[in-house]
Formats: sequence, C-alpha cells, structure tokens
Amino acid sequence: MRLVELRLINFKGVKNFTFRPDGKNATISGRNGTGKTTVADGCSWLLFDKDSLGNKQFALKTLDGAGGELHNLEHEVTGIFQLDNGARIELQKTTAEKWTKKRGSASPEFTGHTTEYHVDGVPVKLAQYREAVASIADEQVFQLLTSPLFFPGAMHWTKRRELLMEICGDVTDADVIASSGDLAPLADILANRSFDSHRMVVAERRKKINKELETIPVRVDEVDRCMPDLSGLNMEELEIGKAELLAALAGLKKKKDDIFSGAETAELRRQRSEIKTKISDLDRAAVYSLHDALVAIRSKRYDLSAANNQARNAVAGYQDQIRSKEAQLDEVEHFIEELRQQWFEAAKHIEPICPTCGQEIPEETIAGTLKIEKARINEKGKKEASGRDALKGEIAALNMKISQTEKTIDNERETSLGKEIEELAAQVDNRKPSKVVAALKEEEEALSARISDIEEKAGEAAGAVGREIANTETTIENLQNKIELFAKAKDGEKRKRELAAEQKRLAAEFERLEGELFLLDQFTRAKVNMLEDKINGQFDKMVTFKMFAEQINGGLSDCCEMLVNGVPFSSGLNHGHQIISGLHFIKRASEFYKVSLPCFIDNAEAITEPLPEMPGQVIKLVANGNDVLTVEIDE
Ligand SMILES: Nc1ncnc2c1ncn2[C@@H]1O[C@H](COP(=O)(O)OP(=O)(O)OP(=O)(O)O)[C@@H](O)[C@H]1O
Ligand SMILES: [Mg+2]
Repeated sequence: MRLVELRLINFKGVKNFTFRPDGKNATISGRNGTGKTTVADGCSWLLFDKDSLGNKQFALKTLDGAGGELHNLEHEVTGIFQLDNGARIELQKTTAEKWTKKRGSASPEFTGHTTEYHVDGVPVKLAQYREAVASIADEQVFQLLTSPLFFPGAMHWTKRRELLMEICGDVTDADVIASSGDLAPLADILANRSFDSHRMVVAERRKKINKELETIPVRVDEVDRCMPDLSGLNMEELEIGKAELLAALAGLKKKKDDIFSGAETAELRRQRSEIKTKISDLDRAAVYSLHDALVAIRSKRYDLSAANNQARNAVAGYQDQIRSKEAQLDEVEHFIEELRQQWFEAAKHIEPICPTCGQEIPEETIAGTLKIEKARINEKGKKEASGRDALKGEIAALNMKISQTEKTIDNERETSLGKEIEELAAQVDNRKPSKVVAALKEEEEALSARISDIEEKAGEAAGAVGREIANTETTIENLQNKIELFAKAKDGEKRKRELAAEQKRLAAEFERLEGELFLLDQFTRAKVNMLEDKINGQFDKMVTFKMFAEQINGGLSDCCEMLVNGVPFSSGLNHGHQIISGLHFIKRASEFYKVSLPCFIDNAEAITEPLPEMPGQVIKLVANGNDVLTVEIDE
C-alpha cells in the first residue's frame, strides 16, 4: 500500500496542508515545529485513532497558544491510498465539537464530539469505516511497518521475542538435540520435561546434594566424637557382674520385706496379748468377789432397815391412837365435870311455877323432881366414868404395845451394817491389784519394752538394708550404663557405615547431575547458536539479535535485544543506527507479512548512512532550515 495524498485540516495545529507523494518516496523537511511529525500523526490517526507513537490521547484540536483549545473547528484528515493491487481508496475522518442549545437556555452547550467517516466520498458508519481500514492494513502490522522505532524500541521485549520467532522461525529442543550426537542422551533425560524446567530441577538437586555432601564429614565427626571409650571394659564380665548383683538385690529386697512384716515381734505380741487376757480375767474375778460381798451386806441391811421401819411405823400408829384416846378421855373428863356441876346446880333449873296453870308448884314436888334429876345425872356420870376407865385401859394397853415394839427395833445393827457397806464400797473403788496381777503387769510391760526395742532396731535394720539396696542398684545402673556403651558404639559404627554409603550414593548422583548439567550447557550453547544463527541469518550483517542472556548461575534467560555492530539498541546505540536497525526489521517483516506500507522515517536528518533498500514507500521527515514545510517527491 502506498500513500497517494494526505490532507490535514485543523489537525494538531496544522490549519490546512496537503501532502501529495503520489505513492512515491518523499521527503518532508522544515524547521523544528513546522509539522513534519504531524503529517505522520495524521496518517495514523486517520487509520487507527492514534498518533505515530501509538498514543491514543493526544491534542488533536488546535490550541490557542496559551494551552486552551479553539472551538467550533472541524478537524479533518483525508487520505488516498493506492493498494498493492493498484486500486485506490479514499478515507476521510472529520471530528467536530457538538454544541447543543437546550430549551430555555440562551447559548448552546458543549455536549461532546461527533466524528464522520467517508470511504471514497461516501459517508459510512464507524464499523464500515473500520472494515475498509482493515482491508488496507492490520493495526499491529501498520505500527510495525510504518514506524522504524516501534519494534526495536517501543515494543515489550517478550512480545518482540515472540514476534521475531514467529517471523524467523523458532528452534525446538528436539531440533537442538538432533543437531549433535553428543546431545542424544538428552532426549531420554528430558523425557516430558521442558529443557528449562529440567535444568532448574537438576541445578536445584545438585545444589541440595552438594549441601548434603558437605554435611556428611561433619556428621561423621559428630558420631566419632560421641563414640564411647570402651578401653578396659569387657562386655561378658559386665553382664555376669550385673546378673550377680541382680540376684543379691532380690535377696536384699526380701530381707527388707521380712523386716517390715514384723516376723520377729509377732511371737512377743502374742505372748503379751495372752498376759493381758489373764490380767483382765483376774481383775474381773477380784472385782466380782468384792461385789458379791457388798451385795449380800446391802441386802441384809435392806431387810433390817425394812423391819426397823415397819416397827417404827407401828409405834407411830400406836402413838396416834394414844393421842386420839387421850383426846376422847379429855372430853369424857370434861363431860363428867359438867355433870358434876349439873348435879350441884340441878335445883336451880327446876321451875317453881307451873308453866301450864301458872300456880306455884309445891315444895315436895320440887324436892321429888330434884331427886329424880340428880339420880338421872348420877346415872349419866356413872356411865361416863365407866367409859373413862375403858379409855385409860386402852391407852395403857397401847403404851405397852409401844414399848414392846420399840424393843424389836435394832438401830445399832443398822448403823454397823451401813459402815460395813461404806467400807466395802471403798474397797471396790480403791482396790489394789493382787500380787499375781502385779507380776503379770510387770511381765506385760517387759514384753512391750522388748517389742518396741525390736521395732526400733528393725527400723535401723531396714534403713541399713535400704542403703544396701540403693548401693546395689547404683552399682547395677553403673554396670548397665557401661553395657549400653557397647550398644552405643555399635550404633555409632552402623551410623558411620550408613553415612559412608550415603556419601557414596550422593557423590555418584552429584557426578551424574554434573554430567547432565554439562550436557544441558552444551544443549544451551547449541540452542543459542542455532536460534541466533537462524535469526541473524535473516538480517543484514550489521544487525544481530541477542536472544538469551547468561545468568550468574550459569543458566540462560530469554531476552530479545537488537544490536547494530554489536551495540544493543536499548543501551548506547546511536539514534541513526537505531532508525536503521528498525528499517532492517521492517524490511524483513514486510517480507514475512507480504505487505508493504508507507514508512515514515521521523528525524531522518539523523541518518548519514545509506538506508537499507526498503520494499515499500519511504517518507522521510527531515528537520532542516526551511521555514515552511517543503515536500520533495523522489522520481
Ligand atoms: N494541537 C495543537 N495545536 C496547535 N499546535 C500544536 C498542536 N500540537 C502540536 N502543535 C505544534 O505544532 C507544531 C508542529 O509539530 P511537529 O511535531 O509536527 O513539528 P516537527 O516539524 O515534527 O518538529 P521537529 O523538527 O522538532 O520534529 C509544533 O510547533 C507543535 O508545538
Ligand atoms: Mg518531528
């Protein structure tokens, strides 16, 4: 595709400029700021909405000189392209501000932008426009082929590497292995792993093994240092000594058990218990005889007291009767005295006047009456006197009974029995043990003393046996420790053998891995050479590519750097050669994509060397002293 004409109107400050190379190589020149780059920007904006550096955000609208935008302008780019098949296509893109007057508002308001698209003069929708652009060029391809600095500089190195391999062709691991017989074993070694991951695994493993190998002498030394000193020790002797001591220990433990079970004091305890029983029997017997005597006397005194009391009660009863009789006697005496008075005073009580007729009663009648009266009193008196005598007799009889009864009361015996009882009771209370009992008690005490003596000694004996047991156990433990030294020594030897075996195994593996690493390095070198040869072979000899970077650990990491005469693009390469390296790439890429696009070489004044022969149209943008943009078309 070639550019036939490009017209800019109000684009990035360029008011109106038409560039008409007519599909030929051309040079646009002018002072700085005259608008050379703007022409390239106009072309890429027309096709892909971006400036020539690939920026979407840039000041498209005309600025007023103070940083502000001029409004109500139409910004337009029109391009006419000639396709490789000879056909031409005209594309036009016009952007304008959209000012809308809202109802009720005096002035219109800015409400965004509108963009109109025309293909061959026909207004089209964005989608149709894009379709038309796509038929001319793919956006990435356009960027790659129109701007020399894009591929070697602006593009990310990973994408650059991918693209380069796509264009120049990759070298597979299998290709590399097949390239040399030495590398053949790698096919099996790698199996399904990629070269890189396998190298990582091997390096890691080698590092680990190396570390392990380093620790082995240290570990052996440690085992050596922990090896017990067996000099002067005999395992068999130690075992025999231990067996003997174990038997002795069993005997000592039994002895200690016997002491604690009290076998020696058991017989003495039995004897003492027998004596205690005897004492208690005798004690009980002695108390019983005193008790019996006391009970007999108490019973006797009880009977006597009962008889005495009965007699005393009887006396008291007789005395009561006597007092009652004496009272009766007093009354009878008193009555007799009264009768005696009555007898003397009887005349006074005879009335001389008849109460019926009221006449004086004759003397003789009175005398007769008195006689009769006295006789009646006498009679009464006699009767009373006889009663009195009877009472006196009864009282005398009662007194007799009293003196007889009193004679039966034995106070003396009662008192003496009381004393006897008191004495016996005191005897029971303050009874002294018999000689037999005292002797038995002495015996019991002696036995108790012996028992505690034995027990005390048993404690001492047990202590002595305990100490002996402890000593024996310590000796056994010491022997055991010595015996264990043999086991420890055996373990140590075993461990050393194991470590030696491990060292051998690790060393063998280390060697194998070293071999693999060597092979892998060979592989790497082969791959680097193959790939770089393959790529570099497709470019001019001044241009080379570095596809691998060597790492400190000896490995390789991917990279993708373009070099001109061995100087890397990204560090130190001069500007002119930077552009030239980009042009070499565009040349190769055009071949690959089978397409050529107008290539804008901005700052072309930097190039003093002849340009590579380019497959497509070249538009050089050259800064020079021209005041206005000057266009020269190559014939
Ligand atoms: N939106 C814009 N409105 C007005 N002026 C602009 C705008 N954008 C850029 N400019 C100016 O337009 C002029 C042309 O810029 P351009 O980059 O095309 O110059 P150049 O000729 O490529 O310069 P150089 O030789 O330095 O590369 C410059 O003076 C720039 O400052
Ligand atoms: Mg410029």
